[in-house]
Amino acid sequence: MASDLVDSGTLEVDPQVVHDDGSSFVDVTEELDSYTTSCTPSITRYPFENGRRYHAFKSGAYPLPNDDAELERLNLVHHMLKKALGDKLHLAPSQHAQRVLDLGTGTGCWAEDFAEKNPQADVIGNDLSPVQPSWVPPNLRFEVDDIESGWAFGTPFDFIFCRTMLFAISDWPKLVKQAYNNLKPGAWVEFQDWDTGFYSEDESCNPSSHTAKFMRLLNDASRRLGKEPSPGPKLEQWVTDAGFRNVTHRKFKLPVGPWPKSQQQKEIGTFNLTQVVEGLEAYSMRLFTSALGWQPEEVEVFCAHVRAELKDQRSAHRLVDYHVVYAQRPET
Ligand SMILES: C[S@@+](CC[C@H](N)C(=O)[O-])C[C@H]1O[C@@H](n2cnc3c(N)ncnc32)[C@H](O)[C@@H]1O
Repeated sequence: MASDLVDSGTLEVDPQVVHDDGSSFVDVTEELDSYTTSCTPSITRYPFENGRRYHAFKSGAYPLPNDDAELERLNLVHHMLKKALGDKLHLAPSQHAQRVLDLGTGTGCWAEDFAEKNPQADVIGNDLSPVQPSWVPPNLRFEVDDIESGWAFGTPFDFIFCRTMLFAISDWPKLVKQAYNNLKPGAWVEFQDWDTGFYSEDESCNPSSHTAKFMRLLNDASRRLGKEPSPGPKLEQWVTDAGFRNVTHRKFKLPVGPWPKSQQQKEIGTFNLTQVVEGLEAYSMRLFTSALGWQPEEVEVFCAHVRAELKDQRSAHRLVDYHVVYAQRPET
């Protein structure tokens, strides 16, 4: 089995250890241990670079780390995005879906919330990194997989979800088409993603600030590596081109910082600023060193300037756009 997994296979972590006490959670540690033991060379021999840990399966494909600091940030982002969407996990009308796929599941927090809320659904979350928790609802399992390779699911899905895959994907039209091909007729897909770059509506953002330069360099570095840094505004077109119908596109302007008056927006802004400040080095270390030829120390110093600016310039009313696109595969 292990040899099948080394290059492009799928690692399925199937939660079958049911607890005697009949609790609704199962422990997949044993299976995970046996998989990770047999597959250690391919999926858990994580490379370390400049103090950060990165995925090992398809090593180098994704430029952000998978260490504890990054996983904590992803959980914070999950909390913030749910809040921004009115305490919703998704906007597509998919609450009765039976078979659900979460592409690039990360910490698995979205998949876990969905599985808990929808006990009728069988949920799969896949990712390059097996970093998801071992205690999960019985209707959820995680797989190690590269979503840019060919998919090998025998049965089509009722709902495919894919969130915040900026800097990750080289061929979005192919990914969206694979989602189309793996949905049942009438089933829904939902993509949620960022437009990377801050702006203001009152000219309080300085385009020559360290922060603005950081965002421009991030976009440039990611494009040089062939990965789309700002998928959000392009999602609607990709989804339409793939053949989906009933396409809905919503754009959310999320504050970066606690500057808005409304309490709800202030909270979102606070979470957003925290995740950006915590994420500066995660976003840039591999991208700037590999695509722009920077030294790690240069990245650290630059991040320190941006961090200080973001914390200091509370008068800047920064916003960032978050796009949600959901659509249906035609019935026929
Ligand atoms: C920014 S995180 C988002 C995680 C999750 N979707 C969420 O919203 O919380 C991006 C995730 O995509 C995964 N990823 C990147 N490229 C991938 C690929 N080709 N196949 C599978 N997962 C991938 C990364 O390992 C990382 O966990």
